[in-house]
Amino acid sequence: MDKLVIKGGKRLAGTVTASGSKNSSLPVIAATLLCSGGSCTLHRIPDLQDIRTFTQLINHLGAKTSFSDNTLTVATGDVESILAPYELVKKMRASIYVLGPLLARFGEARVSLPGGCAFGPRPIDLHLMAMEKLGAEISIETGFITAKAPGGKLRGAHIDFPISSVGATGNAMMAAVLAEGTTTLTNAAAEPEIVTLCRFLSAMGAHITGTGTTELVIEGVPSLSAVEFTNVFDRIEAGTLLAAAAITGGEITIEGVEPDQLRSVLKKFTHAGCTVTHTADSVTLKSPGKLEATDITAKPYPSFPTDMQAQWTALMTQAEGTSRITDRVYHERFNHIPELNRLGAHIEIKKNQAVVHGPRKLSGTKVMSTDLRASACLVLAGLVAEGVTEVLRVYHLDRGYEKIETKLTALGADIAREQYKEFS
Ligand code: UD1
Repeated sequence: MDKLVIKGGKRLAGTVTASGSKNSSLPVIAATLLCSGGSCTLHRIPDLQDIRTFTQLINHLGAKTSFSDNTLTVATGDVESILAPYELVKKMRASIYVLGPLLARFGEARVSLPGGCAFGPRPIDLHLMAMEKLGAEISIETGFITAKAPGGKLRGAHIDFPISSVGATGNAMMAAVLAEGTTTLTNAAAEPEIVTLCRFLSAMGAHITGTGTTELVIEGVPSLSAVEFTNVFDRIEAGTLLAAAAITGGEITIEGVEPDQLRSVLKKFTHAGCTVTHTADSVTLKSPGKLEATDITAKPYPSFPTDMQAQWTALMTQAEGTSRITDRVYHERFNHIPELNRLGAHIEIKKNQAVVHGPRKLSGTKVMSTDLRASACLVLAGLVAEGVTEVLRVYHLDRGYEKIETKLTALGADIAREQYKEFS
């Protein structure tokens, strides 16, 4: 297994370029399954384990893919299988994204129930509710979801989501674009990843209005065409790198971003005392050195993202005063806290709220990644901890951060990847 060995205390400075978004690549790749001919060319796809896993899944279904220099070409004309097996789906919860497109194109899908990140209950009831509203008959047996559209065709419907869900909105959209008639999605997710999916589907010939809002109207079309498309930047990677600058008293610029998508996060960095400036496609953050305690509450976009919550918690260990971290998307997403405390942080969990008492001097030790963003949080802590921090089980981090140690090294961090054996 790989670990990251970090010698803390280096101030980060310089310029890096943001990678393409992982969380928008996944639905976009899934949406290529809607094309019954031609080849989609997708640019700015990050070279990440989750992308490889997802590509493996669509290849298993019969797609032909090739990946080079962050460009993925996908030909889905020969896809015949509608079965997403456990062995592949268990590796990544987002595999559920094949449900909507397979059902829409073939009138049938069989998808293993997903696994994924281990924080709190992560049901898929809203995905299934949306498919049922569109006319699908759903059954769950022997760990598989079987969905069938009577007569092989889904029908437009009104789908009102009781809570905002990125995945269920994406799946519902991919199912509705080929359905007969009009579909209205209310309380839909408006995350930039959904906007990117809307842009991709529209480029393929789908009729969608309301892009970027919580109400989407989709007029079904008989078919979609393969297109060339450029993915959006990864706002969570960008936020994490800015946090790395902030926690080390540094100053960095990230290029290739759309600053508006980072607005809620940039506002919090400003409240914490950082100086943030931006151009049309770059953001610069200068840390004051001494940070101020700043509360955050993670909520659906445009609020502060849950995927930046753990990193913010790491940052607040170095801020003057007490900060409260609340997550209203995943109420129990606090796996990183015991590990931060092992590094010397003083964080209490009170009624689904993390209360961070800062600033605390952190000192390096071995810490364990438990999920993707928790591992990013431990890397941030390692960058400021005294001595050497070893972040174990880095495969979690590798699911979502492209060339993270290369980027941090370029900014001046002392970080290296090493192999190790875990005692069993
Ligand atoms: C996506 C992101 C993940 C991010 C999350 C919230 C991907 C691959 N992952 O996950 O990184 O943390 O959005 O921004 O894009 N829920 C239900 N029933 C469902 C589906 C969701 O109750 O059927 C709940 C979840 O438990 C959670 C909330 O809805 O409390 C939001 O989850 P959702 O937006 O669906 O997250 P994902 O799409 O899985």
